Amino acid sequence: MGAFEQFLSGGTAGKDRTLRLLAAGATGSTLTTMQEKSKSCPSIQLAAVTDTDFEKGNATMAMSNDVAVSDGSQYLAAGTYCPSVESVPLFDIQRQMAPLRAEIDAAISSVFDSGQFVLGPEVKTLEAKIAAFCQSSFSVGCASGSDALLLALMAADIGVGDEVIVPSYTFFSTASAVTRVGAKVVFADIEPTTFNIDPTDVARRITKQTKAIIPVHLFGQCADMNTLCDIARGNDLLMVEDAAQAIGAEYQGRRAGALGDMGCFSFYPTKNLGGPGDGGILTCSDERWSDRVSLLRGHGMRPRYYHQAIGVNSRLDSLQAAVLNVKLPHLERWTEMRIDNARKYDHLLRAAGLTDHLELPASISEARHVWNQYVIRVRGGQRDALRNYLTETKVGTEIYYPVPLHRQTCFADLEYQVGSLPETEKAASETLALPIFPELTDEEQRFVVQTIAAYFESARRTG
Ligand SMILES: Cc1ncc(COP(=O)(O)O)c(C=O)c1O
Repeated sequence: MGAFEQFLSGGTAGKDRTLRLLAAGATGSTLTTMQEKSKSCPSIQLAAVTDTDFEKGNATMAMSNDVAVSDGSQYLAAGTYCPSVESVPLFDIQRQMAPLRAEIDAAISSVFDSGQFVLGPEVKTLEAKIAAFCQSSFSVGCASGSDALLLALMAADIGVGDEVIVPSYTFFSTASAVTRVGAKVVFADIEPTTFNIDPTDVARRITKQTKAIIPVHLFGQCADMNTLCDIARGNDLLMVEDAAQAIGAEYQGRRAGALGDMGCFSFYPTKNLGGPGDGGILTCSDERWSDRVSLLRGHGMRPRYYHQAIGVNSRLDSLQAAVLNVKLPHLERWTEMRIDNARKYDHLLRAAGLTDHLELPASISEARHVWNQYVIRVRGGQRDALRNYLTETKVGTEIYYPVPLHRQTCFADLEYQVGSLPETEKAASETLALPIFPELTDEEQRFVVQTIAAYFESARRTG
């Protein structure tokens, strides 16, 4: 057995060291000769070296990643080896905040100077800007995306005896908002290619009690809004968009939040427009909705200490709005960076020959996908093992969502059995989100892909 083969089989190098070299050497464009030797190992493309050379490189690389830079780098084409990448976070808000820090600090100071901490002028400014950004006539700030959903249903007087259709493959608050107003949650299945709610299944679940549909623009891509809006119109149903993950997303040129009756957005830090805490906003183009939501977010109080309705306390803090006002002008650029990162992943994952193992996320032609998440499907029951491997190699990933809502303990009384929403359950067992934040570097993306390739290679070898 030659040194290279020995290395591949674990040989002298040991498991961790093998992994490090696999990650270091993959996807080089000028590394050709060793490629010949590694035909049985498609994720590896190493430099033109002899066995003897390799042995030398191997010995050095096996010692440590740092030493490999000085001695081993001769075997690796420039740019293919990423000694600076030791880990890749799923998300890194500091990289986004740091260049804006002075501006953010000044905006925060000015709120302190004004002393108007709740619904101050910064909130009004943000509301106007978000309405324009989302092509809506109005927007109303509130304490979170969850509250935006709750307020939408409250404003429409949805309650006991009513039913609302939502996807089960979503974050909890899409459904909990329905339960909190006293209505019945009706879960619908998803389309397997987009992970978004399946309009055919929605239509099937409409009853006389159905009052609303809440499609979620999951991971940053709009649901099939033409078909859903037709269904809503035909059955006189309210359409509330859960656009928490989709600010700036478009469907046939129209923005998320302006496609239904009301749109609900989250400013949670990991969202495409994330604040330094919780926050949310509701968009709409009918003044009656904005007036009602504005009333309800402040205890139904109008004027002061006169309560027209039982509302909630869900106001947007001026400090959150001040930071979001600084960030909003950069959102389009960040979105383009996310779109670019998604394209790069598509290319790198295909080039590494990984599409036998993975299904890449699809973007539909009608939509502008804003990639809040880049979510792959892992075939062959390997999702959890791949994720563990990535975690060990310090690549951040997440499973959105491991337990679909219809199988959550708190919804057990709705009696959805295992298998009742097959596409949702399949997605929950196969999906894995990779880092996609705007500031992710090329090197980091390559590291992620190389590490995935290394996993499948080691899985192949260990059978
Ligand atoms: C699809 C979806 N809906 C609603 C929410 C709730 O937003 P928030 O966390 O701001 O309450 C989120 C946030 O994670 C979400 O992803």
